[in-house]
Amino acid sequence: MAQNILVIHYSQSGQLTEILENFCKPFVDSTIEWVKVEPATPYPFPWKTASFFDAMPETVLEKPIPIKPLQFEREHYDLIIFGYQPWFLSPSLPASAILQDETFRKIMNGTNIVSVLGCRNMWINSQEAVKKQIASAGGKLIGNVPLIDKTSNLISVITILHWMLTGKKTKKWGIFPKPGVSDEDIQNASQSGALLKEKLQENQAAEFQEALVSKGGIVIPISILFIESRAKMLFMIWANLITKKTAKGGNRKFWVNFFKYYLIFALFIVSPIVLTIYHIFVRPFKGQHIKRELAYYRGTQLR
Ligand SMILES: Cc1cc2nc3c(=O)[nH]c(=O)nc-3n(C[C@H](O)[C@H](O)[C@H](O)COP(=O)(O)O)c2cc1C
Repeated sequence: MAQNILVIHYSQSGQLTEILENFCKPFVDSTIEWVKVEPATPYPFPWKTASFFDAMPETVLEKPIPIKPLQFEREHYDLIIFGYQPWFLSPSLPASAILQDETFRKIMNGTNIVSVLGCRNMWINSQEAVKKQIASAGGKLIGNVPLIDKTSNLISVITILHWMLTGKKTKKWGIFPKPGVSDEDIQNASQSGALLKEKLQENQAAEFQEALVSKGGIVIPISILFIESRAKMLFMIWANLITKKTAKGGNRKFWVNFFKYYLIFALFIVSPIVLTIYHIFVRPFKGQHIKRELAYYRGTQLR
């Protein structure tokens, strides 16, 4: 059993903290050390529209931002629970900073790690980046518990922006659904924690992820799989373009604004058309491929 557990995370609204508190509830007989990461310069919450989109290039390029020095009580833990949130299909800037912190990387080496996410619904690409960082530090990713907003994709874009830009996790205009991970799913994170505890007690850490998947614990809508398989490459192009233009003296605000309108157009105009074509003409012939992709992303291995 995991005696000494490190829980490390960053959360702006407290949603991820609440998820992790519930996830950890079953571990009553373990010693849990909580490390809450703070950027040297805090990110605004609520966000302003300009600063929200301005975070894109560095997030996508996984540039480590300065964080307040991490203090750990031990040099080794039996289990690390790494809580993070994706920003722009990549680990959030504070999450990337944690994963690239030299002290934390030494602690990850040889240790079992479970990642726990609280996000909108697009975490596949960011989890690939997290898998790579953990593997390169010598950590052993034994589980991934992504909690998503189960509302439809375009509705949740509107509701999450309402939440991020007002700081209020409330129903926009009283008619839209509540943004973010549902209260029920936040509470039920304790069930995934209990499953992990059970597997660790049985010395079957490697079976945790499969058990979680077979209980329906990982939801990946096929439309999201399709969007994510294309969107990250486009974000990379934008991130590099904005960085290069700015380095050459270009107006960063202009290019970030351009990206914002591109994203709104891509999400609300292009993606519904492309998805309709995909679902009618492509998806019926790609059954096996989709099955393999879903199985891969639900797992913890790197290709
Ligand atoms: C700048 C920014 C970009 C985001 N991009 C994504 C994303 O690509 N995919 C996703 O599922 N959620 C995205 N989210 C939502 C976050 O993953 C997260 O759910 C939300 O910020 C609440 O996290 P908190 O616990 O830090 O408050 C984004 C949030 C922010 C602030």
